[in-house]
Amino acid sequence: MKTGLILGTTLLLLASSASAAIRALPNGAEADQGPARVRVTALSDEILRVRFARDGRWSEDASWAVPADVRARKVAVTPTADGFSTGTVTVRIDPQTLGLTLFDRQGRLISQDLGQGARFDGASFTLRKAMPIGEHIWGMGDKTGSLDRRGGTFVNWNTDAFGFSPGQDPIYKSIPFYIADGGTGGAYGLFLDNTFRTAFDFGHKRENEIEISAPDGPADYYLIAGPTVRDVVRRYTDLTGKAPLAPLWSLGYQQSRYSYMSDAEVRQIAARFKQERFPLDLIWLDIDYQDRNRPFTVNRTTFPDMAKLNADMNRDGIRLVAITDLHIAHLPNQGYAPYDSGAAGNNFVHDATGKTYVAPVWPGPSVFPDFTRKASRDWWGTLYRQFAGYGFAGFWNDMNEPAVFETPTKTMPLDNVHRIESDDFAPRDALHTEIHNVFGMQNTRGTFDGLKKLRPNERPFVMTRASYAGGQRYAVTWTGDNSSTWDHLRLAVQQQISLGLSGFGYSGADVGGFAGGPSPDLLTRWFEFATFMPIFRDHSAVNTPRVEPWLDGPRHLAIRKRFVEERYRLMPYFYTVAEENARTGDPIMRPLFYDYPDMLKTSCDTQMSFTVGRDLLVAGPAHPESPQLFDVCLPQGRWFDYWSGLPVTGNKLTFVPDLERLPVYVRAGAIVPRQPLVQSTMERPSGALQLDVYPGEDCRGELYLDDGLTTNGASLRQSFRCAVTPAGLTLDLGKRSGGYRPWWTAVDVAVHGWTGGASVRGRTASVDAAAQTLRFSLPASARASRVEIARR
Ligand code: NOJ
Repeated sequence: MKTGLILGTTLLLLASSASAAIRALPNGAEADQGPARVRVTALSDEILRVRFARDGRWSEDASWAVPADVRARKVAVTPTADGFSTGTVTVRIDPQTLGLTLFDRQGRLISQDLGQGARFDGASFTLRKAMPIGEHIWGMGDKTGSLDRRGGTFVNWNTDAFGFSPGQDPIYKSIPFYIADGGTGGAYGLFLDNTFRTAFDFGHKRENEIEISAPDGPADYYLIAGPTVRDVVRRYTDLTGKAPLAPLWSLGYQQSRYSYMSDAEVRQIAARFKQERFPLDLIWLDIDYQDRNRPFTVNRTTFPDMAKLNADMNRDGIRLVAITDLHIAHLPNQGYAPYDSGAAGNNFVHDATGKTYVAPVWPGPSVFPDFTRKASRDWWGTLYRQFAGYGFAGFWNDMNEPAVFETPTKTMPLDNVHRIESDDFAPRDALHTEIHNVFGMQNTRGTFDGLKKLRPNERPFVMTRASYAGGQRYAVTWTGDNSSTWDHLRLAVQQQISLGLSGFGYSGADVGGFAGGPSPDLLTRWFEFATFMPIFRDHSAVNTPRVEPWLDGPRHLAIRKRFVEERYRLMPYFYTVAEENARTGDPIMRPLFYDYPDMLKTSCDTQMSFTVGRDLLVAGPAHPESPQLFDVCLPQGRWFDYWSGLPVTGNKLTFVPDLERLPVYVRAGAIVPRQPLVQSTMERPSGALQLDVYPGEDCRGELYLDDGLTTNGASLRQSFRCAVTPAGLTLDLGKRSGGYRPWWTAVDVAVHGWTGGASVRGRTASVDAAAQTLRFSLPASARASRVEIARR
């Protein structure tokens, strides 16, 4: 017999002698206990969806994060007495509590509910999961604090968090997704697809217990089996989408400041970069280019000809990105088209009384597009027509938490009314409590889709401050208004790694810090780290000291330039890793344990260490401001010093801090493609493709290239392999696939760690004995070729 006891609004499900039957479904199972019902279905062998019906009623099957066609995926399962098995996992449903336990096929525990599968209390609910000792928790997007979320408690509520502290929560984004790593059955992921103000507690309240709670909304989550963190991240991005490959130029160096005031100032900045021969791809225009901060206007006095400015910059290899805030100035019938056209289509959010909601942001009184209506997003997209025509390369969606001035909550009232008319949602009104966390994401969706219509063949580039799970499909992101402190440099590394594990392959932090003004050393160090991060944008606030790279004198400029140049030389590798991110979901910037799980047990402080792809390892000092010696621990296996190309002896090294140097290593077994230095990605490299070969186990490398801009153009792909042989080394250059014509006609090969003489294809080759480097050139070929290198 099932027993349900209602106490006020609290529904307690009591254990009873007789249990609910578990009903098999072709792709899962269902069970009831009192009026509560759970349905567990398999989208694939490793991705399960868990939904609860409260009072017997299922919540709407619709989502901002998981597209309908993905939610519709199913695999057949094998029913068991108390659940079912897929090809890789077994689910057990406790008929008394509806609690779930997940095992791998060997019977090892992956995840386990504590008590009820879900506990409802009025509109709210709570989930509780065991968190065994030794389990690490990763993910949750841009949250501050340490990378391991264990012991922390977090709230998901997109917040304009100017000058946030390194422990502040919540800040800009809400990604209710974590990865639990270290259980006996391997890592698993949990994504709660609920847009309300949810909370995740990882053993803060109760040791060894994860508590997830939501004040309202669907009890609808996905369990993603690993066993590795990499498996979980790939599957999470199968579910919520991969970040599309961004334009090549987004990997270039980017200069920004809140207060580039005029056309003349932008030209001066560009000219100085040119004069210094400091590579540059992008200059960002913040709100100051606008007429009285009104979105989609231009101040014609200070920026008389935007099209010409764009064209002139482009000629120098520089693109411009413009900010386009969502808050439309409230200027009825004053000839301000964004307001008038928006109002005509009923495109703005309403307050609880049904009036258009008006509140102050940059332009003064403003209105807010109703981005959860497709029609409003489409209208929003049309606002970009003129700006796309000016030739702006991309757009910046800021303030989209949404930020509202002069109110303690920093956002709109919770009872504001949004209209949902989108996707497979039933058309309905929804309160701000439900929409708040997806508002920014839907803002970027409108921008992304609008740009696709305006420039159908080009990859849209949108950068956003706020977002929700799946927002990586529409925009890259940055970490908002950080500060110019060493703690924030450390935090940026953690946040960007975490964003990568949470689907956002492309992230940046304001290099140098937005608020405060960095010391010269801090800015230089930040340049060094950012050289290896996905988005490298120097940005700073109005009324702070300026931070263009040359401002701290020649020594700092030289170091910063040397690092930026290195990034441009590495562009073929970076772009290949970015393409891998788009295809697989593997982050561009990764925690060491992503590819080297042994690093979870390292004795070194690796909080400032990460890899770019699998093969490049940045081992920054954990306290770069400290003059103390620091240790670098490398993963098992052999490594090369990236800068000298020399093999490293041992896996633990000690360094004296040196502002000129950031330790970077290459995996023995990597083949890294590089290119001659250019001043912008618009410049065609002149010379040979460079292949740096670091012999070792599993020796391989990849190269991906295309025009860097279009969505349907030709591409080029080539794989490289190497093998140490008794005679020396064999290098295989795979067949080039795809029709893209490369810029090189020759390949310069450098084999590192080479001692003694060498002959290549039977001819004596030159070896730099001190650098232990063997160098030779090959004509480039689209066909597969093998090079035998013999020791002499
Ligand atoms: C807030 C953003 O976070 C910051 O980067 C920008 O400079 C200002 N808004 C002004 O647009």
